[in-house]
Amino acid sequence: MVIGNAGTSEETVTEFESVFTLEATQLKFGAGAAEELGWELNRLGLARVILVADPRLHEFGLIDRIEAIIAKAGVAFRRFEAIRVEPTIESLARAVDFCAEHPADGFVALGGGSTIDTAKVCNLMSVHGGRIMDYVNPPIGGGKKPPAPLQPLICLPTTSGSGSEATTVAILDIPELRVKTGISHRYLRPTLAIVDPELARSTPAGVTASAGLDVFCHAVESYLSKPFNQRPRPNTPDERPPYQGSNPVADIWSRQAIAFSGRFLRRAVADGGDTEARGTMMLAATMAGIGFGTAGVHIPHSCAYPIAGIRHSYHAPGYAPDHGFVPHGYSVIVTAPAAFRYTYDAAPEKHIAAAELLLGCPVENPGPETLPAAIVALMRDVGAPSGIAALGYDETDIPAIVAGAMRQTRLLAGAPKPVTAGVLETILLESLQNW
Ligand SMILES: [Fe+2]
Repeated sequence: MVIGNAGTSEETVTEFESVFTLEATQLKFGAGAAEELGWELNRLGLARVILVADPRLHEFGLIDRIEAIIAKAGVAFRRFEAIRVEPTIESLARAVDFCAEHPADGFVALGGGSTIDTAKVCNLMSVHGGRIMDYVNPPIGGGKKPPAPLQPLICLPTTSGSGSEATTVAILDIPELRVKTGISHRYLRPTLAIVDPELARSTPAGVTASAGLDVFCHAVESYLSKPFNQRPRPNTPDERPPYQGSNPVADIWSRQAIAFSGRFLRRAVADGGDTEARGTMMLAATMAGIGFGTAGVHIPHSCAYPIAGIRHSYHAPGYAPDHGFVPHGYSVIVTAPAAFRYTYDAAPEKHIAAAELLLGCPVENPGPETLPAAIVALMRDVGAPSGIAALGYDETDIPAIVAGAMRQTRLLAGAPKPVTAGVLETILLESLQNW
């Protein structure tokens, strides 16, 4: 296949990219895979690890079980479990301090995206030191690149959402700036993801719904992102961003994750005992993670960070009620119908293909509303909030959300059409209520 330079005329680019890369986390998937953690720790030659674990998993005996596997392998460990759902700089700093007191030669993460992201930051800071903000993506943070690879990190996801086990990104909340952002570098990518569907059996339905909608958004945003060869060529390979735009390899992962979301998310939400549906959504999360870890997400995720960061009044069913917050998947999905209504004419065939993958069948007389309508149907069926109004926002909040989203320059660069503040304002107005 010859992939030429297919630049758009909307921006001044002296030379277009002609190269893309695929770097994927090693994956071990299947019922009972968690039992092989000990073998993997020994294979990696680890003697002493930090186990970063979601404390809510005590209730289901999962932490005891994983600790027994680590101990049986003859590996020493210390457990850190002061995880905050949606980590902040402060919660991450506590984790980093703990790791500084307990030197280790590797990390194991047991939990959802918040837990895995905490472990990634611990790994980064324990190897390279400095301040967390030094490494946060610009313009919010310093954008410093870790100078050398990190220690091994094995992830055992227990929810089917973030795909963090497969990505180079750690997301964090900066409350004083009322914004969510991240640290993004290829060295943050975990060494191995052990994805065991039996670990997700305990996830409440509301968490499965939000997490699954996040999986779908990772996949569909990646699939519909600006193609890699319409982006500017970096000056050096080191400057090539982790999010490179859609490409033929990332598309394979994204398409399959969209199809799995359409076939299995409703079932996974309806019945926690449906291990086929929950297991497939876990696999979809990891597959979408590989796709978006290469191609990148854009408009819905850019809006999601201020939507989750500005107001903390929403109480989501199924989540621990210790603080109000907007679960990440809901913060993303609420703007997806309007976002893809806007991007439709950048690539009509791909938008229709995404809708058909989600619906699992061909669509007669497709058009700009086909994909938004298919997304709204999925949202309604899994009990998602109908829009940003249901999350506590009204029209007067939109300028602040727009301002926060416009700061996500790294993500917005991946949108298939130019994104201005006016474009985002329209998308957010349409997203107050999707039905
Ligand atoms: Fe996400």
